Amino acid sequence: MTAEPVPADEVTILLDGARTTILPVAGDTLLETARRAGLTPPFACEAGNCGTCIAKLSEGSATMKVNDALDDDEVEEGYVLTCQAIPDPGPLTVNYDD
Ligand code: FES
Repeated sequence: MTAEPVPADEVTILLDGARTTILPVAGDTLLETARRAGLTPPFACEAGNCGTCIAKLSEGSATMKVNDALDDDEVEEGYVLTCQAIPDPGPLTVNYDD
């Protein structure tokens, strides 16, 4: 008996009124995942400092490598720096338009 292959968790990206769903590559940030999907999300420093890449998670969670731009309240509300956020296991929806 062979085990069923486990599909990668989907990432859904809401940007400029459009919804895109993509299977993320392990270790990619949400910003890299959005770019891989052919989108043009906002970003500047890509170092976790400026906050240009901010978006809000409406489903799932992600872990930021660096956060020098968001305060604790924003993080609690679900905002992430997409240039630093690696999706946690499970489906995730990230909204740049919120
Ligand atoms: S691009 Fe500057 S914090 Fe993400």
